[in-house]
Amino acid sequence: MPRLPELMHRALFRALSLLSAKGQGLVLRRYFDWRHRVPDPWRLATDDYEQQKYLVTLKHLPPGPYRRIIEVGCSEGVFTLALAAAYPEAEIVGVDLSERALTRARARVPQNGHVRFVRADLLSHRPGDRFDLVFCSETLYYLGREERLRLASSRLSELLAPGGVLVAVHPWPESDRLHGFLDAHGSLARLSEQVYASSPRPFAITVYRTRAAA
Ligand SMILES: C[S@@+](CC[C@H](N)C(=O)[O-])C[C@H]1O[C@@H](n2cnc3c(N)ncnc32)[C@H](O)[C@@H]1O
Repeated sequence: MPRLPELMHRALFRALSLLSAKGQGLVLRRYFDWRHRVPDPWRLATDDYEQQKYLVTLKHLPPGPYRRIIEVGCSEGVFTLALAAAYPEAEIVGVDLSERALTRARARVPQNGHVRFVRADLLSHRPGDRFDLVFCSETLYYLGREERLRLASSRLSELLAPGGVLVAVHPWPESDRLHGFLDAHGSLARLSEQVYASSPRPFAITVYRTRAAA
């Protein structure tokens, strides 16, 4: 049974998702700029739990090579920095709605030509580029109603190159519902799921590959 704060969180973001996708994006952009009025609002850089989650996320990846990587909902680039260290040869793109978050991400991650950050909304971002590895973590629960989660699943799957890998990381058991929209997407095949149920804040790492190569 979800706890009260979780139910309120879900209700708030579900209500916002009753707006048009464009209106929702505008409100969320303001909201996340406001959340980033202080540095690292979720303590992603300093909380052991988050650091541990990043380590195990990288551990669950199928073997590469990964030459083109995108992280959607990258906030201030804490995980992007870990990706840049793990894949020094890869081209890496971090995407977030909040320009304030991205300003800090650009300061955190050395801008040496292979990492860049783009302000965009997951629901409308269609870059045309395709990636071998796509990350979306701790972001889908902001998107609200089912139609938006289906749209997000389509947008994420469109980012994948043939044979590409998508990794979704969200709190468990809510992940069952959120990742269910990815499961239902015709072009994605689930490769694995690891649930860390005994963690202080349980979470699931679910890995997909584009169906043609699954
Ligand atoms: C809780 S943070 C997660 C950061 C990172 N993915 C992690 O797990 O460490 C969620 C981030 O998602 C971003 N976000 C939320 N909705 C988004 C959307 N529709 N498009 C792009 N970014 C979004 C927010 O601005 C915020 O920085």
